[in-house]
Order: sequence, then C-alpha cells, then structure tokens
Amino acid sequence: AEICPIDVSKLQVVKTSDHGLLIPPEKLVFGRNFTDHMLSVEWTKEDGWHAPRILPYQNLSLDPATCVFHYAFECFEGMKAYKVKMDECFIPGERGYSLYLRPTLIGTQTTLGISPPESAMLFVIASPVGPYYPTGFKAISLEATNYAVRAWPGGVGDKKLGANYAPCVLPQKEAASRGHQQNLWLFGEEEFVTEVGTMNMFVAIRTKDGQKELITAPLDGTILEGITRDSILTLARERLAPEGWVVSERKYTMTEIDQAAREGRLIEAFGAGTAAIVSPVRTIYWRGKGLNCGLDQNEEAGEITVKMKEWMEAIQYGDESHEWSYII
Ligand code: COI
Repeated sequence: AEICPIDVSKLQVVKTSDHGLLIPPEKLVFGRNFTDHMLSVEWTKEDGWHAPRILPYQNLSLDPATCVFHYAFECFEGMKAYKVKMDECFIPGERGYSLYLRPTLIGTQTTLGISPPESAMLFVIASPVGPYYPTGFKAISLEATNYAVRAWPGGVGDKKLGANYAPCVLPQKEAASRGHQQNLWLFGEEEFVTEVGTMNMFVAIRTKDGQKELITAPLDGTILEGITRDSILTLARERLAPEGWVVSERKYTMTEIDQAAREGRLIEAFGAGTAAIVSPVRTIYWRGKGLNCGLDQNEEAGEITVKMKEWMEAIQYGDESHEWSYII
C-alpha cells in the first residue's frame, strides 16, 4: 500500500475518569509511571493506517508468535511536553516537571518467518517525569569502553531501535561495577569518541592555537541524530560563536582529549539527551587512568553545560518565546 498519513479527523476517544494512578510529584521516577490514556493506531499493509484511538492506558494482548518478540521489529522516539490537555493533571506545574512522550512502533504480524511485517501498531504512552537532577547537577564519571562497539558504519546505530539499547546494558553494568555512572563509547583503532551511555557527547576544548572549540561527533551513521544534540549545536552557533567559539561536528579521538586534558586545554565535557538535557562529566577513565574533564573538585558543571541547561529550559517552559515551542 502507498504510505498515507494517519487521518487525525478520524480520531476516536475513549476516556477514563479514573485518576487512580496519580503519583505525588516527589515520588516520580523517570519512566516508571504513566498517565491514564494512550494513543493507539493500527496499520496493515492492505489498508494502511486505521483510525487513531485515544484509549484508557491498558495492557496489550499479543500472540506469542508476534514478530516484535522474536526479531525486535521495534523503533521508538522520546520527547517532552509541558502541559497536554487530556492528562494535564499528571504534570506538576513546577519547574523541572514535564510529560515524557514515548511513541513506539511495533511489528504485530504473527509469524516466525522473517519478512517485513504486514501489520504494525503505533502507540504513544506518556510518563510524567520530575527534574533529572532534583538536587542540582551531579557530574558523572565515565569509563571508556573499547572492548565493545555500540554502532558501526553501515549499521543501524543511528536509529532509535529498541534493539540498539539492550546490548548496551552490559558495558554500562561493567562500568558501574568499577564505580562509574556511565560508559563512553569509542570506535575503531583510533578510539574515536562517539556517544556516552544513551546520550550524545560534547567536549569543549582550547586548541593548540588557543581557539575555543565545542565538539561533537558528526552524523556518519554511527551517531544518533538527537534533537537535543541538534538544539545544542543550534544554540551554540547562535550564542557561543559570537563569543569566539568554533562549533564543530567532527571526529575526535581519546588521544586528542587526553592530550588536551594533560595540557590544561580540556574546558568541559557533557552528555546531551532529551531525558536529562545535559549531563556534566567529571572524569573519563581510559587506559587505566582518569582524565580530569576541567571541573574543580567542588564544581558540578562547567559554564557551557550550565548555559545550555538554562537556555533550553527557558525555551521549554516558555520564559522565552521561540520557534521550537508549540502551543497545542
Ligand atoms: C535520552 O533522552 O537521553 C534517551 O536516550 C532516552 C532514553 C531513556 C532511551
């Protein structure tokens, strides 16, 4: 069937007034609680998208032979809304709270044969989330992972496939067993720095010529095209470039970062993702030693990290009107 968009005019709504799931704001843990509605849209090869439905949040009932369970036909997205009509009561009004939306597409054909599914289901669930850092920023320690590879050229590591995430749990656990909060994904013999945990990675350095440079890896097929990555690059080009920063999407290696750290040219490092916005990095453990990423002992985040968080939140909460914000 040709690809036709979902027909929103056919939306059916089945409401529940049961707010039994309401959790007090201070008890919200990322991704554990959900609002009492969900959006669900079926797709079949024969008829395309069926009418979208908003339904009471509910279990799915799927045949054990459904292809998503066997061959991971699944992709997802993650985004935040700041008040949405139907489940508004789930989003506390205070700063730091939002509604994390999780659109998910699964193959629903019941077969153990591997072929493009002829039926699928899109659903969107919504999770009220609190501030990622309830007591302020906490700079994290990273272990550079060079024994496992997250993504490779020609692969699918740049896509938001569930199948990309499960294999990352073991290296993360390994890093945690040695006292690090996250692992830093390297690639190749050159040990290119790619991503941190489930986030894009940014480093700010001073080059040997004294030029301030904010660097993130380029979208070469091994890097997730994160919207937060894109927002940070845009804000940096708009607001840091006039202050003399060069903003680069380029490959960079651990050796380059190590050298910058040793020469006092590593200014700061942070991860960037929708869930946390930015996550400051204190140390990277690599080849048996710790690289200090530019923070003083009593400091939890560098200047750019703090600025990015403030700039992003001002746009997200509407303190600043901006083309990225929509009123729905
Ligand atoms: C992020 O927002 O940083 C993510 O990658 C979402 C995560 C929960 C998968």
